[in-house]
This record gives sequence, structure tokens and C-alpha cells, in this order.
Amino acid sequence: MPLVPMKQILDEAIKGNYGVGAFNVNNMEQIQGIMRAAKEVNSPVIIQASRGALKYTSMFYIKHMAAAAVEDNPELPIALHLDHGNSLETCKQAIALGFTSVMIDGSLKEDSKTPTTFEENVEITKEVVQYAHKFGVTVEGELGTLGGIEDGVGSGKVKLTDPDEAAKFIKLTGIDALALAIGTSHGAYKFKAQPVLAMDIISAVQAKAPKVPLVMHGSSSVPEELIDIINKYGGKLEHTMGVPIESIQQAIKHGVRKINVDTDGRLAITGAIRKFFTENPSEFDPRTFFGAAREAVYQVVKGKMIAFGSARHSGDYQPLTLEEAKGFYI
Ligand code: G3H
Ligand code: 13P
Ligand code: ZN
Repeated sequence: MPLVPMKQILDEAIKGNYGVGAFNVNNMEQIQGIMRAAKEVNSPVIIQASRGALKYTSMFYIKHMAAAAVEDNPELPIALHLDHGNSLETCKQAIALGFTSVMIDGSLKEDSKTPTTFEENVEITKEVVQYAHKFGVTVEGELGTLGGIEDGVGSGKVKLTDPDEAAKFIKLTGIDALALAIGTSHGAYKFKAQPVLAMDIISAVQAKAPKVPLVMHGSSSVPEELIDIINKYGGKLEHTMGVPIESIQQAIKHGVRKINVDTDGRLAITGAIRKFFTENPSEFDPRTFFGAAREAVYQVVKGKMIAFGSARHSGDYQPLTLEEAKGFYI
């Protein structure tokens, strides 16, 4: 099975009423951990790479590692998605590499920091849609801005999504999926206390555009156990709160279909490697500690595939090629 368009995975999630985790990757072990989890629980997969990941891997490695995931798991639908694309150029680059989906984050200017106006967002998003759809490639847009600037994506100023604007934005741009700002932020430091997310925004947008899958960024749960492992083995991370799994499940009930997770994978990897070296100070074969990291990613991702409801859905549909996906846009 070739890489499938992300639109198919998300449209199927609407039909089945479940959410699909979109996991950020930068290396082979993360991809293998995710694929092992997906294979074991029979889940569709969204692998996503940020611009930072493309830079870190010199781009071609992501393309070929995703191809390896497909070859190794021919029975699973897998989409390869560009996370937080900042310009038409970046999206074109990803499409040329074979990505089956791109995000144009037009809520921020090309510097990924300065908020744009609604009109500027519409303009760049429309441009990307017009280009990507010619190739059958899915487009995710974003309206509203998340908090949190720790990882370099975000203005630090929160602007929750306005549902009326969202309906207008979807109509004007022709996007396939919309990322909402509902109170989450990127990174490990999200909330000081139990968060209250704006579920009403999800329902309102869903009611106005029921066919468009909604996306939740900044969805890591920052589990206490992962912070504890890191700190127990020499790390220094503050205890804060992420997005509880129950809140994500509630968001899925309201209409969220794509759930972006990066930080929890990072925490799992860091904890596993710290623990490994403390317990095995004389080990220096990279397969041992990278292997431990891969196992930790597998555990975290498997739990999320089950909790978000995507487990057992990999065989529900016949995969579409990008060529066939062009039919969506005629
Ligand atoms: O939303 C941002 C993701 O967590 C990616 O982070 O740009 O450090 O790869 P990154
Ligand atoms: P987290 O930092 O909560 O994992 O969010 C990741 C994300 O939204 C990637 O686009
Ligand atoms: Zn994000």
C-alpha cells in the first residue's frame, strides 16, 4: 500500500467517530516505535515532520524512512504530513518529496511567530490549497493562535478560534482539515492546573462544517510518570499539566479527528535513555539505548491509539492513491 492521502484517514475517522494521533518524527526509532504500535493494535497512522525535522534529517531521510514504514507494513494506511508549513515554498518542497498531506500554518507569518490577519491567512492558505490539490495532497489550515513558544512555533499570544470565522475560512480556502485554537499550547509547559479547554468552539465549528475534520495541536498529556522517570535519572523538569486523555476523548466526541503529539514522545525517549545509562553505565552500543527509546515510543503511542479510538480501524477501507484523491477536488 503506498502512502495514503491524510484526507482519507480523517474522513474515515469522521465516519467511525474516532480520533487519529499525528505523531512527530525525526528519526528511525520514532517511526519504528509508532509502526510497531500501529501494527499491534491495527491503527491507521499519521506520521508528521516539522520543518525542524526536515532540516535535521536533510529531508530525504524522512521520505525514505516513511517508504520503509510502508514497505514493512503494507496492510496499514499511513499518511506522511508536513507539520506547521510556513510558506508555499515549504509545502511545495514537501509535496515534491512525496508527502501526502501538508499543513500551511497561515495563522502566523513566515517567521512562525507574528500573527497574521484573517485576510492574510486566507490568501496564503488558498494558494497552498490550489497547488496541493492538483497533486491530490491534503491540506490542513489553522485559524486562531496557540500559546507556548518554547519549541519555536507560536506567537505566545493565545487567540481562540472564532467559529463564525472558521466557517468562512473553510469556505474561502477549500482546506481539508482545520486546526483550532481551543486553549492548548505546544511543549512540556502547558498548564499549571487542570486545564479547561474550549469544547464549545469545537462543537460550534463542527455544527457549521460537519464534513471538515478538526485538528487539535498541543495535545501531549505530559504524563507525571514520564517526568518522574526523567527526574529520577538526573533530569530537571518541572511538574506541570498537559492535556488529560479524558479531555482529548471529550474533544473527539465534539468533532476533533486529528490529535497532534510530539512532546510526549520526546519525554518518553529522554526518560528511557537517561534510565538506560544510569543502569548501564558501561554500555556504548547505540542499539541498546536507541532500542530502549524505541520501546518507550511504542508504549506511549500504543496507549494513545487505543485511547483515541483509532485502534482496530486500519482495515476498514481500501486505501486511495494520490492520483485517486485528485477526484476529491474536481
Ligand atoms: O508544533 C511543533 C512540533 O512540536 C515540532 O517541533 O519544530 O521542534 O520539530 P519542532
Ligand atoms: P505537543 O507539544 O503538545 O506534543 O504538540 C505537538 C504539536 O502540536 C505538533 O504540531
Ligand atoms: Zn502544532
